Amino acid sequence: MDVMDAIEARWSVRSYAKRPVEPEKVAAIMEAGRLAPTASNEQKWKLIAVTDPELIAAMVPACKDVKWVGTAPLILVACSEGDREMICGQSARTVDCTIAMSYMTLEAIEQGLGWCWLGWFYPEKVHEVLGIPDEYMVVAVATVGYPAKEGRRSAKKSAEEVIVYNRMA
Ligand SMILES: Cc1cc2nc3c(=O)[nH]c(=O)nc-3n(C[C@H](O)[C@H](O)[C@H](O)COP(=O)(O)O)c2cc1C
Repeated sequence: MDVMDAIEARWSVRSYAKRPVEPEKVAAIMEAGRLAPTASNEQKWKLIAVTDPELIAAMVPACKDVKWVGTAPLILVACSEGDREMICGQSARTVDCTIAMSYMTLEAIEQGLGWCWLGWFYPEKVHEVLGIPDEYMVVAVATVGYPAKEGRRSAKKSAEEVIVYNRMA
């Protein structure tokens, strides 16, 4: 599968088969994140793979009590150590973690898995469940696993609506 095939194949999976993700697939996903770029190559982050069923069950209340979250055999969490505002005004750590999770998404798709990003999480509860020290900020959470059923991604705006070549106006 090439990168564009993986991008095309991606959709948000919210129901997972009762099938664990093979450890070598988990390792490949984590490696894709580890190799992602970070601002000034600081790599001030931890990329966490949660596979322990008890911890996954405990993550459900930390994720707005959304029950399908508990059907995922793998939950990924990206957290950053502290933060730094870049000259552009954006958080370096948020951008770092988001890029890593995007790389990891594509590797998961390559491995035949499905993925859903979660904004529905309470950071303080995720800290508690996963023993994340206070100096870390939980940036991103995603569920991963084999999809329980087929699906497709949501409609996207047309190229004309979102892509700009050169000046916007
Ligand atoms: C930053 C971010 C946060 C999201 N949070 C949630 C969430 O909390 N719950 C959920 O069901 N989907 C969540 N999603 C998935 C989006 O709803 C989904 O990507 C969007 O509807 C487009 O559908 P598609 O991914 O199938 O193309 C999130 C996606 C992103 C990028």
